[in-house]
Amino acid sequence: MRSVCAFRAPRSVPSSPSNGVPDVNTQDHDLSSAFHPTFTGGRQEKQWILQSLRGFYVDEWFTDVLFRVKGGKEATVYCCRAHPATGLDLIAAKIYRPRMFRAMKNDSLYKIGRLIRSSEGKYPDDRTARALKKRSRYGRALDAGAWCMHEVEMLETMWDAGVQVPRVIENTHNAILMEFVGDEYQAAPILQSVSLERDEAEALWERLVHYVRAMLGAYVVHADLSPYNLLYWDEELHVIDLPQAVDAIRHPQAYELFARDVDRIAAYFVRQGLEIDAQGLAFDLWQEAYG
Ligand SMILES: Nc1ncnc2c1ncn2[C@@H]1O[C@H](COP(=O)(O)OP(=O)(O)O)[C@@H](O)[C@H]1O
Ligand SMILES: [Mg+2]
Repeated sequence: MRSVCAFRAPRSVPSSPSNGVPDVNTQDHDLSSAFHPTFTGGRQEKQWILQSLRGFYVDEWFTDVLFRVKGGKEATVYCCRAHPATGLDLIAAKIYRPRMFRAMKNDSLYKIGRLIRSSEGKYPDDRTARALKKRSRYGRALDAGAWCMHEVEMLETMWDAGVQVPRVIENTHNAILMEFVGDEYQAAPILQSVSLERDEAEALWERLVHYVRAMLGAYVVHADLSPYNLLYWDEELHVIDLPQAVDAIRHPQAYELFARDVDRIAAYFVRQGLEIDAQGLAFDLWQEAYG
């Protein structure tokens, strides 16, 4: 079952830079507010957490950062203690690294079919378009912001389509607060690290195919769907990690990306003992949605 949470509006909306330039140093919150999270990591990470999450703390979305769930090349996810006013216990904070896409050579593949937008959701003006093209510091920051905004949009679209994704609570240009999947001791494991009994594998596979159908119904291809981006908790699967999702109609390689997604998730379930014709299924689902 999808969890439904009742979170309230923020005390004040986190500020975003007026010119749309993502800059973690210019949050105009009351910087004297005492934000001393339990988890800080090393010196650099502490700085990073304070800069990226202080606004959410000041706006009373959460009261503490409890632990780092996972730090990757592209983003780091933290478990936070939710503010009681939110009606939640825990919140996940995903912070994007501003320089992440220096390492990501082929990101243009995923940008086809979507227009890059600023942190305020606006389409680029000339200066912005030039900066993106030149990949100046400003351009890279904007780029990371656009990926973050795109993930928010995709998570919300998926939620509306009935797919079990963590519900977005709030976001800035480089961080997303969303429902935390797990408890205060541990985050939910990724499906890749879980072995399933055959009965449960069958039930979860059926559920996952239902989600994939719902995604196609919303014209979305995840484009990085795999047992690494599915969380397993309380006998349910949660789809995560959507910044690279593409438009199923406008992206010229949408079907190839979709078939790869189906292939990867099917391979996991075949390892759990199911018999699946991944190629045939991908074809049938696509035909059913758009044929
Ligand atoms: N809402 C969430 N609740 C609990 N854990 C999460 C949540 N979102 C992400 N994670 C954890 O953080 C990891 C990284 O998040 P993900 O969105 O996959 O980013 P990336 O793989 O690009 O670093 C996931 O593999 C998962 O372990
Ligand atoms: Mg991931």
